[in-house]
Amino acid sequence: MAEMVKLFVNGEEVEVEKGKNLIDAIGAVGIEIPHLCYHPALGADGNCRMCLVGIEDGRPPLVPACKTPAHEGMKVLLDADHIKKIQRDVMELELINHPVDCPICDQAGECKLQDYYMQVDLEESRMRVPQVKKGKNKDFGCGVVHDQERCVLCGRCVRFTRQITETGELGIVNRTDDARVTIFPGRPLDNRYALNIVDICPVGAMTSKDFRFKQRVWFLNPEKGICHGCSKGCNIFIDHNREKYKDDIIYRFRARQNDLVNGYFICDEGRLSYHRENEGRLVNPLIEGKETEFDEALQRIQDELKAARKPLFMISPNATLEQMWAVKRVATLYGAQCSGFSDSYIKPGDGDDYLIQDDKSANRRGLELLDIDTDKESFVKALAECDLLVSFRNDLFRFGGGADYREQVESKKILVVSSHVNDLVARSVVALPIASFSEYGGSIVNVDNVLQQFVPAVKKNSPPKDIVEITRLLGGAVKDDAQAWPGMKTQVKELADVDPDQIPEQGLQLISDSEEAHVTA
Ligand code: SF4
Ligand code: SF4
Ligand code: FES
Repeated sequence: MAEMVKLFVNGEEVEVEKGKNLIDAIGAVGIEIPHLCYHPALGADGNCRMCLVGIEDGRPPLVPACKTPAHEGMKVLLDADHIKKIQRDVMELELINHPVDCPICDQAGECKLQDYYMQVDLEESRMRVPQVKKGKNKDFGCGVVHDQERCVLCGRCVRFTRQITETGELGIVNRTDDARVTIFPGRPLDNRYALNIVDICPVGAMTSKDFRFKQRVWFLNPEKGICHGCSKGCNIFIDHNREKYKDDIIYRFRARQNDLVNGYFICDEGRLSYHRENEGRLVNPLIEGKETEFDEALQRIQDELKAARKPLFMISPNATLEQMWAVKRVATLYGAQCSGFSDSYIKPGDGDDYLIQDDKSANRRGLELLDIDTDKESFVKALAECDLLVSFRNDLFRFGGGADYREQVESKKILVVSSHVNDLVARSVVALPIASFSEYGGSIVNVDNVLQQFVPAVKKNSPPKDIVEITRLLGGAVKDDAQAWPGMKTQVKELADVDPDQIPEQGLQLISDSEEAHVTA
């Protein structure tokens, strides 16, 4: 538990964390100190001077809040005239050579320069000399485009490549009003986290090729979500929008801070995986490859299940705990074996020692907790014995895998419940479209045993059903996510003390080798 101190902000007493810099300490109680160069993940650089505040009696000299720790009884002054004047002076300096092209800038609406100008400045430029011209639309690699004229030289991007990725591709060259951020000749950005630079650039100087000119940010609805790109389960914002006469679609994923899971950043692959939520979707129910009605396809699945002698249910390692539990329960109804075998989701050697994991599924740990077999040998044996294979979104040939069991799988009668078109769908007798992770909610456990919950973000015009609902329609006992919990709590010792309504936003660290779970938040 952090030590707290009482201090005064503009004469008002607030309680803040001792020793934290004033931007973070006071920011935690909802008071923002304007700043450009400071970022909590990168530390204080002290170069922009936008965060100057008065201390004690409020007279100059002023101090940078990003470099001043909070202590007991401190008197912090933010709103005195001389502080406002300093902020206006900094803004004027930043804007001398700035193109002020907000109408065509992707950052408009989430730009600190724009925000602070509206908050503290609102003055017309006094400069009557030609502006210094610098580079525009510079392709820095990894999908990052740089505009040197919009840059305020805060150095966040440079520090990111030095401190976080330790790849050091960026630097600031030249001096005074000719200073600019650049890559070294012939050495573009080359790391798997480069698009975080777009998030941390406080202005529109770093933009994403993928997102540029697609949407004005004020039309986007940001929802909290969890990336399903690998077993890290990084926290994201899902920015989506339903334009008139169109369906609700996702325009970008952005990093969302979670100190227990991913800190402030996400990888580029996960960030761009939103495309998969929009594209390649299984939209219509299919019987033997021909489009049909949902009820007809469901009826055919029920008929096939009743007729089967020995069905095998395959569960995706991306399914939520609730979905896994519901499938496991309905499997007993049809005398089916259950397998979570999904080796094709693993890319050996692809992970790194930061966020990216080899396992490209979000809830393999959930399969283990619910005692669903993931062993290859058992799967191959069950496959040989079964006369009907039912896949609940388990893509057995993901990333081109499964060469050694493909023939055997394809010799079976296959029923598929899937959010996306894949090889298994192409081979299926019946394929039923379902929701993908941005459209449903539930609980998942990441590679570090952190239990996290998420809620539906995207609401399609014709919302696809999720796996729990499909199992209910097949006669399963689990009617919704809440109904899965009493059973899971009884059978899984790690979940026994978990209250699903009280899981903290940043997740719950499960203790795997005891009957207790505790909150590390
Ligand atoms: S490009 Fe953005 S992050 Fe980098 S120095 Fe310029 S303003 Fe700062
Ligand atoms: S590290 Fe994994 S969970 Fe995190 S953003 Fe990348 S793919 Fe997604
Ligand atoms: S944020 Fe403190 S000097 Fe830039």
